Amino acid sequence: MTKSMATICIHGKKERKNVDNTGAVSFPIFQSATFVHPEFGKSTGFDYSRLQNPTREELERIVADLENGIDALAFSSGMSAIHALIDTLSPGDHIIATDDLYGGSTRLLMNIANKNGIKITFVATDKIENIKKELRENTKLIFLETPTNPMMQVTDIKSVVELAHKHNCIVAVDNTFLTPYFQRPLDLGADVVIHSGTKYLAGHNDTLAGFLVTNCKKCSEKFRYIIKTTGACLAPFDSWLVLRGIKTLHIRMEQHQKNAVEIVKWLNNQKAITNVYYPGLENNSALEISKKTKFRFRSYDFFPR
Ligand SMILES: Cc1ncc(COP(=O)(O)O)c(C=O)c1O
Repeated sequence: MTKSMATICIHGKKERKNVDNTGAVSFPIFQSATFVHPEFGKSTGFDYSRLQNPTREELERIVADLENGIDALAFSSGMSAIHALIDTLSPGDHIIATDDLYGGSTRLLMNIANKNGIKITFVATDKIENIKKELRENTKLIFLETPTNPMMQVTDIKSVVELAHKHNCIVAVDNTFLTPYFQRPLDLGADVVIHSGTKYLAGHNDTLAGFLVTNCKKCSEKFRYIIKTTGACLAPFDSWLVLRGIKTLHIRMEQHQKNAVEIVKWLNNQKAITNVYYPGLENNSALEISKKTKFRFRSYDFFPR
């Protein structure tokens, strides 16, 4: 039986790992840095919380299931997740990135990745020709944010993936704004999904969190090596907060969309306002791409302007 998004938000796709035998409905917070070994040379599967922690693993399971990935890694913030992604590259490698990325991501690429010998080209990724023009031998990553924060630029993920894979280049999509409730980039062929879990996934303004989700075994191995080495993993209590937040993701996203629609309607009727940036507006180039990208917009979202 295929499970609904609402069910996956709460239970994931399969049974959770039985780690405490109490039947606790709310997953326990394993607030422990270290784990006792039953005997010399034997492990329970949990040794040290930088490597494994049951609460974080439960959260990672739910997020991987929501994005249809084979693995998800929970980081201490969205920025640390993006940093780990960039850490998989080497000096001399080239990234093509959306030119309207969240400011922190631009800062990371311009001031840290660049300093470490990684070359970056920013283009408006809503036009595939812009990406085609900039592809080079050493282009290893196309980093998309769609829709972008703040200008709501929308990229056709599927077309970018087709182009990138012909050039042996991976595609990572920052899916913070839509969440897997509205868009699942891995289903469109992307290799990696990025989240600032701080936003809609956690949903209560009480913790920072970040995720990398992937369908690519090699990527997952690289990310796991980086997280265990740099230690930017999400703490047990914060993992639990995000787990709890995600249980209502489906309800909150519907309401967020209704709220956005009301605001757009109001803004649309103000004479003093010349531009409203919302991908659901008719005559907006983002709308056609959004339909292709399978945004799950409802019909009431499309307004004449
Ligand atoms: C689209 C997007 N990606 C990444 C980030 C960074 O995430 P964090 O603040 O959790 O480090 C943000 C933060 O606002 C964001 O909006």
